[in-house]
Amino acid sequence: MRLIFLGPPGAGKGTQARILAERFGARHVSTGDLLRDHRERKTALGIEAQSFMAKGALVPDDLMIRMLDAELADTASFILDGFPRTIVQADALGEFLTKRNLPLDAVLSFDLPREELIARLTGRWTNPRTGRSYHERYDPPIHAGVDDDDGGPLVQRGDDMLEVVEQRLVAYESMTSPLVSYYEAKGLLVHIDGTRSAERVTDQILDELAHSGVGKGAPGSQNHSAPHCCGLQH
Ligand code: AP5
Ligand code: MG
Repeated sequence: MRLIFLGPPGAGKGTQARILAERFGARHVSTGDLLRDHRERKTALGIEAQSFMAKGALVPDDLMIRMLDAELADTASFILDGFPRTIVQADALGEFLTKRNLPLDAVLSFDLPREELIARLTGRWTNPRTGRSYHERYDPPIHAGVDDDDGGPLVQRGDDMLEVVEQRLVAYESMTSPLVSYYEAKGLLVHIDGTRSAERVTDQILDELAHSGVGKGAPGSQNHSAPHCCGLQH
């Protein structure tokens, strides 16, 4: 399985990628989580990326492409969450996958209105160790401030402050949203209604994948009966 999850900040990419990757035994590659890990470890990349991330801007393409090439070198089954984010990154990914004869199965584009994105980001709490996200109203942990899985502390991301969120939305509109038509033209795009509950979003994704045969034979692919709707184009 090779999927891209495309969508604005707060659209639910990470929430869904985590569920789907576990279900299908694919690797969840979140460039945001990778960058935050570099920043935590104070690597050269983390130090360079920090100033861009803190103000809600995109990290330069050459750094991102190098990081992704290294990350994907030994994997053929993945969900990309947060990459590509520019046409340059998308072209580089295309070349990388073509060389390895690993075509993409689909690009899932999460659609949500701006007010909902802001509500989701400003109410988000994250386990910085695992990247799992909660929401104070929509998906609270059992005990406030503590991860249900490992009991670790939950924190609010610095870039979830309203001023930075607004910059991230601007960056998405200007740099990333052109990828919707880029992948539409390649016949890979599937629209996902991100406004529904997390469970219903997962169901829509599973329906789309099952209908098109993506992930067939992977662990977890038998557990969902797919009706007949809205297929992926190939
Ligand atoms: P990154 O970490 O990728 O942030 P993002 O794309 O802005 O997206 P988020 O992680 O904020 O949102 P999400 O869609 O994952 O939503 P989530 O599932 O958490 O990137 C951070 C920064 O790194 C960038 O700004 C940039 O600087 C840099 N960067 C990363 N990749 C880069 C690249 N390729 N090029 C250049 N720079 C790059 O959900 C959000 C909230 O909603 C949570 O609280 C969750 O619990 C809740 N929620 C989820 N689904 C639902 C639902 N269906 N109903 C109700 N609540 C829900
Ligand atoms: Mg995320």
